[in-house]
Amino acid sequence: MLKITVIELSEDIYWIGANIHTEDLFEGIWPIPNGVALNAYVVKGEKIALIELVREWGGAAQTLINNLESLSISFDDIDYIVLNHLEPDHTGFTNMLKLLAPNAEIVTTQKGAALVDGFFGITSNIKIVKTGDELDLGKGKKLKFAEIPNVHWPETMVTYEEDSKILFSSDAFGSFGVHKGCIFDDETPDSNKSYWEDEMLRYYANIVATFSPMVLKAIDTLAGLEIKMIAPSHGLVWRGNPGAVINKYIRYANYNKDYAEPEICVVWGSMYGNTETMLNAVLRGIAKEAVPIHLHRVPNVDPSFVLADAYKSAGLVIGAPTYEYGMFPPMKYNLELFQKKHIWYKKVAFFGSYGWSGGALKDFESLSERMKWEILDPLSFKGHPTSEELKQGEELGRKIASQVKNIPSKIKDEEF
Ligand SMILES: Cc1cc2nc3c(=O)[nH]c(=O)nc-3n(C[C@H](O)[C@H](O)[C@H](O)COP(=O)(O)O)c2cc1C
Ligand SMILES: [Fe+2]
Ligand SMILES: [Fe+2]
Repeated sequence: MLKITVIELSEDIYWIGANIHTEDLFEGIWPIPNGVALNAYVVKGEKIALIELVREWGGAAQTLINNLESLSISFDDIDYIVLNHLEPDHTGFTNMLKLLAPNAEIVTTQKGAALVDGFFGITSNIKIVKTGDELDLGKGKKLKFAEIPNVHWPETMVTYEEDSKILFSSDAFGSFGVHKGCIFDDETPDSNKSYWEDEMLRYYANIVATFSPMVLKAIDTLAGLEIKMIAPSHGLVWRGNPGAVINKYIRYANYNKDYAEPEICVVWGSMYGNTETMLNAVLRGIAKEAVPIHLHRVPNVDPSFVLADAYKSAGLVIGAPTYEYGMFPPMKYNLELFQKKHIWYKKVAFFGSYGWSGGALKDFESLSERMKWEILDPLSFKGHPTSEELKQGEELGRKIASQVKNIPSKIKDEEF
């Protein structure tokens, strides 16, 4: 007899997912030093539906199999595999599960079906659903579907179980980070809450930020539902206060619609210390106004963490020297990610040293186009900064900090 590793959400509804600890990067790009939870669920009526799968990663596929076994569910018993979102972190196991449970029907949207074909070559036994469609599992369990396109891919939908009023929300309301002994918000000790705040924001900035308008639209779409629990495909399950995670996501989605928190994210790089000398002057200026600073040196700090702090801060300070007629390459890469992830509406200051021709500033100007940034007079200087230039740097820091200071904080939902 296997020990029970599943967690009951409601009668006949269980979490059957896996927590992944790995050196791998999420999506092959984002570090996950705290791992990630691949949440998967099962709903048992007369018919049995799995909602989300896992990928074969850090033992997750075996964990899912063990979890089903511990519920005495055999593969033949599975009637439906609901795939809310086709990204392989949730669906990598589809091929194998189709072999194990060949009669199970895959439930997905029209666009999802095309991806099931593309990724897995599966074209039969697929049930295509759209917003408003229902699937009666018997014994009072009924699934209802709603499309939420582009949160995070075009085919994404959510699944609502009408009896328990649980919303299986896919990547929406998700987070990086493994569960630390409990999957529910209301069992999370206060001491672990800042862990989740940080990992949720970093997940949002890295994965979801580009799609903020669609997040707000999805929240509107779901407004009519009575939701007792939100069960995303990563991170905590929100049972005590599902409204808290909705409010957090509304706040995050507004961070690139308007100026964010009255804080400054300082991102800098330097080869030989000249830009660094100016950095210290700029920091002195910011400190005079007592605005919170997030300080990141590139490439030493991974862009994943830079993005999170840049996304939540109303102020952005970029310090980068010239390298081969352009900007110091790791900074250029960070700014390209800022473009991609819509790190918009910032008060921005730039400074950097050059040797003869310059080039970093020119790159900064082209990379900051269409970012809706309010840019202060940049400070580009030759070699080591002069005393006069250092004074200008201190003044630049003070000026951006005084502007950022007056932006009202959007955080009203710290507690969960
Ligand atoms: C690999 C390398 C490439 C450089 N390319 C340029 C260049 O194309 N144009 C220029 O004006 N300065 C160039 N420089 C000079 C630096 O921009 C200059 O030394 C600057 O002061 C470096 O700032 P830092 O001390 O903050 O690294 C280059 C320096 C290095 C090491
Ligand atoms: Fe995704
Ligand atoms: Fe995901």
